[in-house]
This record gives sequence, structure tokens and C-alpha cells, in this order.
Amino acid sequence: MCGIVGYIGKKQAYPILIKGLKRLEYRGYDSAGVALLTDDNELKIYKTKGKVADLEAYSADKDISGTVGIAHTRWATHGEPNSTNAHPHISASGNLAIIHNGIIENYAVLKKQLCEYGVEFKSNTDTEVLVQLIDHIRVTHNVDLLTSVRLALRSVIGAYAIAILDKTDPNQIIAARKSSPLVVGIGDDEFFIGSDASPIIEYTNKVIYLDDGDIAVIRRDQEVKIVDFDNEENFRDIKEVELNLAQIEKDGFPHFMLKEIFEQPSCLKDCMRGRVNAETNKILLSAVIDHRDALINPRRIIIVACGTSWHAGLIGKQLIESFCKIPVEVEYASEFRYSNPVINNQDIVIAISQSGETADTLAAVELAKSKGAFIYGICNAIGSSIPRTTDTGSYIHVGPEIGVASTKAFTGQVTVLTMLALTLAEARGTIKHHEYTKIVKELMAIPDKMEELLKVNDKIKEISKVFTYAHNFLYLGRGYNYPVALEGALKLKEISYIHAEGYPAAEMKHGPIALIDEEMPVVVIATKNALYEKVVNNIQEIKARNARVLAIVSKDDEVVSKMADAYVELPETVECLEPMLATIPLQLIAYHVAVCKGKDVDRPRNLAKSVTVE
Ligand code: F6R
Repeated sequence: MCGIVGYIGKKQAYPILIKGLKRLEYRGYDSAGVALLTDDNELKIYKTKGKVADLEAYSADKDISGTVGIAHTRWATHGEPNSTNAHPHISASGNLAIIHNGIIENYAVLKKQLCEYGVEFKSNTDTEVLVQLIDHIRVTHNVDLLTSVRLALRSVIGAYAIAILDKTDPNQIIAARKSSPLVVGIGDDEFFIGSDASPIIEYTNKVIYLDDGDIAVIRRDQEVKIVDFDNEENFRDIKEVELNLAQIEKDGFPHFMLKEIFEQPSCLKDCMRGRVNAETNKILLSAVIDHRDALINPRRIIIVACGTSWHAGLIGKQLIESFCKIPVEVEYASEFRYSNPVINNQDIVIAISQSGETADTLAAVELAKSKGAFIYGICNAIGSSIPRTTDTGSYIHVGPEIGVASTKAFTGQVTVLTMLALTLAEARGTIKHHEYTKIVKELMAIPDKMEELLKVNDKIKEISKVFTYAHNFLYLGRGYNYPVALEGALKLKEISYIHAEGYPAAEMKHGPIALIDEEMPVVVIATKNALYEKVVNNIQEIKARNARVLAIVSKDDEVVSKMADAYVELPETVECLEPMLATIPLQLIAYHVAVCKGKDVDRPRNLAKSVTVE
């Protein structure tokens, strides 16, 4: 949801900023721009509609000198994605340039006031209002930049991570955050700013994660100073980021998405490392050890999440209800936050979020917290906002996910939910010892089974060519595999732009069956579990309507594999762990169909990785 990057130091800023933008492009790619204070102390702004590569082409023949600059890649909220609305935005005096990630909710009121003072606007963005306001305060009150930023931010309602460059002071960048992430990197005689650490780690692993309400004054040759709106100093620790460059590069794969699909076996090992003991077959989750009393006997659990994370939550519900016998509700965070939910201090709210920054999930957490619920976070991005707000939680530890379509985060989330359900069930005495041990052993075997399953990639590539023609897809599954069907459909639609619906298989005849004809492929997860026979009947109903069926079946299946037009066999596992395997072929189908259609897999249109606005 917009990526921001900044540099001040002794090196040329432009190449660092462009490289940083490329690393942040997963956050938005409607337009890109850069502001530089050049060697001649000119404030130069280059911006263009499109991706960072378009910005590079646009500025190829321009003056890109300078050792201080800020840059932005946009996911449009206010104002269409054109070069006028692209960031950076400049103030009326021509002295200030700003980049912004977030939304200024009261921008219309502020803009009206500024217009009455005679300020003229060039763009339709909320961001320009902010830079005009800061400049207006600075000029009319004759105060320094920090003071005008502080005063301006006091009157702003909304979410922001901003960085400001001042033509009259080439030795300084001012940055601030509220509800949108912002990291300051501390190098040798140089500083970096990033929406996350990915544009920074190539240069330094020392970072400061700004907190809400922080304003950072970043000056050449001085320590970073952080103050609040009242100019009181806030002292923040310098942290070491455990991220390496290889994790954020494609490593020979054509797309991040494919790399991340193939990384899943090793990611899940990382997720289980130190938590699942192969000798004792026991799971130890530090969050449960530390907060046993709060976690063991809740009245109920409510899972809040969005998108793919919500699908993982649906699997979590089945795991927790069947093993722990605790009632679980799964809510879209965006609905939950406005639903005036009845919650109290006997409830646990589990917030699932890859980025840890999703605005709706964060707001749901804050609401639940205000009502006294105990909050457990399941996140991937270390140090992000949600884990910092929750009472406890477990990171999924799958490493940075850069492809916009979530893949390894989903299987990581399901792994953590499985570990959590088993741990709570054991502590509550609601699971038999042999069942617990069996599932733990099977869980440890999942990475190797995934590795084996990934060999099906070439076959799926071939199958996908046949299915690329379709305009609509149906995905069906039951029980634990129903959320997998939803997830498969979401993957396909978000990267190939083919309409796809996920449905519980038996619901098909209550409506969607009307859509089925020879033009509509149906993907069915038909593994040999308790509901197998019923799914077989559904497949017969589909075949009777001449649709093509792609089936995900258990190893050595002889019934569905004969009925289906194409099939993929899954290695055997226990029913509750099937989603982790069944999702792999569906990720690959979505990937290969999108590639066949020539789509930009890692940067699908209209999407952004981290949805930090409502
Ligand atoms: C789908 C996808 C999105 C995210 C959703 C929540 O591939 O990536 O649906 O799952 O935006 O994001 P997080 O998990 O970061 O809260």
C-alpha cells in the first residue's frame, strides 16, 4: 500500500532510491516518483505513471545527482493513478517535497481551509494537502520545519508514513508515522528510510522501527532524533534485522511467487524449528508456555483476518474446535471492526496477518483489546504493527513474502494454527495422546511431502495450458479442504484475472450448478477422507454437465482419477493436514495460468501486498 524510501549520506542517492523502490514495488505500482536535492541544490522531482522501470526510463536523461532524496511507489487511493497524482508532491513555495503512505481522512476540510488562504493545488491527492499544510504553517508562523510538521500532524486525522525533503536544508529529512509502517536504517555516515527493512538491509542491518506518533529528524552526521507531537523526545532502541539479501531476491526463479511456492518445504521447517521436538514428539510454543492461564480456558475464540489469512483462519477454526473443543468464530476483520461485537475478557482473539500491517486487522485487534479480550497474533513480518499490539503470539517465520499473491504465508499460518491447536488441546486434555503424537509426526513429515509434491510442477504447467482459455472457474472442497477451495479460487482470480468461485462441494447444487457447462472448468479437491463418497457424487453431477474436471486426489485413487480430465495426486497424510498439501497444486495452477496469459504475476493489477488503508 505504497512504498516509501529515503536516503541521506555521502553516496549518490538516486541508485539507492531506485533499488529500494524496486524492493518495495510489491506495495504498489500505479506510479513512481523521486525527489532529489541535486549537487546544484536544486529540488528535482521526477514522477510518472506506471512502474519503477518507467520512472527509470523517464529520468534517464535528467539530472539525478545528489546525496539526499526520497522516493515513492504508489497504490492509488485518492486521485487516479497518473503522473500528476504520483508522489512526491511539492508545496506551493517550491521548497518542500513529501512522500506518503496512508490516507489523510480529513483532507477535504483541510484543503478547503487552505484554499481559503489562497493555496493552489495541482493534484487530487490527500497527500498534497499535507505538504501544503506544513508549508503554510511554516511560512505563516515563521517556524522551522520540525515545528510545522508537528503542528500540521496534530490537525491531521488518518494514517500516514511520510518523509519530507526541504530545499532550504539539504542536510535533513523529516519522517513521521501513524498507523503505517516506517523504518529508519542507520549506516556509517548515512541513513535510510523504508516502509520496511527490505530497501535498507543491503547497506545496514541496524534499524529503528518508528512507533505511532513518532517524528524522526534525520540529519547528516548526527544521531537520529525522535520526538512526539509535543516535541518531547522519544528514545527508540536500535534493532538488528535478521533479513538477508538472498531472501528478498528471486534466486533464479522467473517470479517471486514461484520462488515462494518452492520455498514452502524449507519455510515450514523454519516455522517448526525449536517448536516441534522430533525426539519427544512434543510441541512447545513459547506463547502458550508464557500465557498458559490466559489461553487455556477461554469462553470462545474469535479469529480475525483478511483474504488469504482469513482462509487460514477457517482451517484454524476446524483444528481448534475438533482438538480443543473450544467454540471458534472466524470474522473478516473489516466487518468485525464495525460490527459492535459482543466480546469480553473471557474471549481470545487470534489475529492472522502476513504483513502484520493490514489496517482492518489492526483495527479489529484494537477494538477487541479495548473490550478486554486476550489477543494472540499470528504474523510473518517481524516487528510489524500487529505483533507489537497483541498480548502474545507466534511468528510464522517463513521469511519475507514478496509476490503479491500470498503462498508460503498461508501454509505457515496453517502450520502455526495446527501447532497452537495441538498445544492447547494437550494442555486442556481434549486430545488423546496417541492422536496428538500421530499428528505431530505427520506435521514434521509435511515439508518432505511438499518437496515430493512440488515435482508435479511440470505436469501442472501442461494442464494449465488447457485451462487458460476459460473465463470462469469453480473450486470445490469439503471440510478441511473447503477453505483450500476458497484459497485456490482467490489465487487464480488475483493473478490471472479469471473469475473463480470457491464453494463447499455440496453447496454446488444450491445454485452454482446452474453455471456449469463445458466452458467452465471445475477444480475439485477429492481426497480420501470421511466425505470422499459425497464428493465423488458431486463430480458425477459436474461431468453430467460436460464440464472439465481437474481433481486433486489421494495417492493411488482409482475412482476420481478415472472420472477427471486431469488429476494431481497428493502424498498421504492425516485429514487435518491435507490443506497444506492440497494448496500447493492450486498455487501452481494459478501461477501457470497467469504466466500463460502473459500476466504480471508478482504485480497483479489493482493489488498491493500490504493493505494499510481501509
Ligand atoms: C491474497 C493476499 C491477500 C492478503 C490480505 C491480508 O493472495 O495476499 O488476500 O492475504 O490482504 O493480508 P495480511 O495477511 O498481510 O494481513
